[in-house]
Amino acid sequence: MVKNPTLPTELQVQVELPTIMPRSKRRPSVAYTEAQRAVENDAEIPYLSEQELIERIQHLRKERNAIILAHNYQIPIIQDLADFVGDSLQLSQQAAKTDAPLIVFCGVHFMAETAAILCPDKTVLIPDPEAGCSLAATVTAEEVRQWKAQHPDGVVVAYVNTNADVKAEADYCCTSSNAVKVVQAIPEDKEILFLPDMFLGLYVQRMTGRKMHLWMGECHVHAGFRAEDIVNALKQYPEADLLLHPECGCVSQCMYALAEGELPAERTFVYSTGGMVRHVKQSPAPIHLVATEVGMMHRLRKEAPHKQFIAVKADAICEYMKTITLPKLYRSLRDGVYEVRVPEEIAQRARRAIERMLEVV
Ligand code: 13P
Ligand code: SF4
Repeated sequence: MVKNPTLPTELQVQVELPTIMPRSKRRPSVAYTEAQRAVENDAEIPYLSEQELIERIQHLRKERNAIILAHNYQIPIIQDLADFVGDSLQLSQQAAKTDAPLIVFCGVHFMAETAAILCPDKTVLIPDPEAGCSLAATVTAEEVRQWKAQHPDGVVVAYVNTNADVKAEADYCCTSSNAVKVVQAIPEDKEILFLPDMFLGLYVQRMTGRKMHLWMGECHVHAGFRAEDIVNALKQYPEADLLLHPECGCVSQCMYALAEGELPAERTFVYSTGGMVRHVKQSPAPIHLVATEVGMMHRLRKEAPHKQFIAVKADAICEYMKTITLPKLYRSLRDGVYEVRVPEEIAQRARRAIERMLEVV
């Protein structure tokens, strides 16, 4: 057990860290991507207005019979153009069921890869393939193989925020919206290796009562949420509903505080981004405190325009999600770039774990 010294006294908590694995630091850079260079040096794109880009996108999507899928953290204009906006699980479900021969995936690379694995007969494009994920970058397939070798009877549950070759090593995938159910579906006597998000893992542990081995990965955006951010926001808006993403660095402390009665039980909710959308549509609360990436605010305001949404951390911005822009989306449709392909041997093994994820909803 380790005491977390950085927390305010009202949320001091002892957090148990079941397995300490070295936390990799391989955060990909999106400072100036190849796709960005390409749109800047293009003969046409720099001279088009936003309206002209939109008109061309509308024309091409029809001509190519394409479906545009966008994650809830995408910039507003991309969300507004998409056929479907959702969380990781919903986007995988949409990809799996679409009849469109072309999917343009506006999200990060692991999401487009998941769509490509689920739809081997379709073309999946991502407007910028360097749209990575700091969480997915914390674990490699080789590290998973080494971890499994230490726990030969362990069942590997991989959060969908992983690269395809890591999913290929997993028994189950899960997203933030079904992680608890996926773990509950695994027989009690099985040892579980959960990767790569330690905060989601700690949350699932608390909700299921199962002891798991946790990979010590984190998302740099969500890890930055501290319990004191939550406490301060609640002091300012005591009547608000609090919506927390389970990747947040403070989620364990908040669950503890909830159990101790230090957070309002009837107004504190831990949700995937899709869960947040469902919640605000039916909750009577006029104000919502939102603890996740700020792209979510546009989606929530659109779904419930009469309500007030406050970002708990206004600088919680995922640069990977924001690397998908209108000029890149246009170029993607115009030139058929960048196709996401997963080698069949890896796709086959990863598909098994992803399909199990889709069965548990
Ligand atoms: P959701 O599945 O909740 O949309 O989360 C995806 C993600 O990347 C969170 O950072
Ligand atoms: Fe990855 Fe974090 Fe960005 Fe989600 S918010 S895509 S977990 S880096």
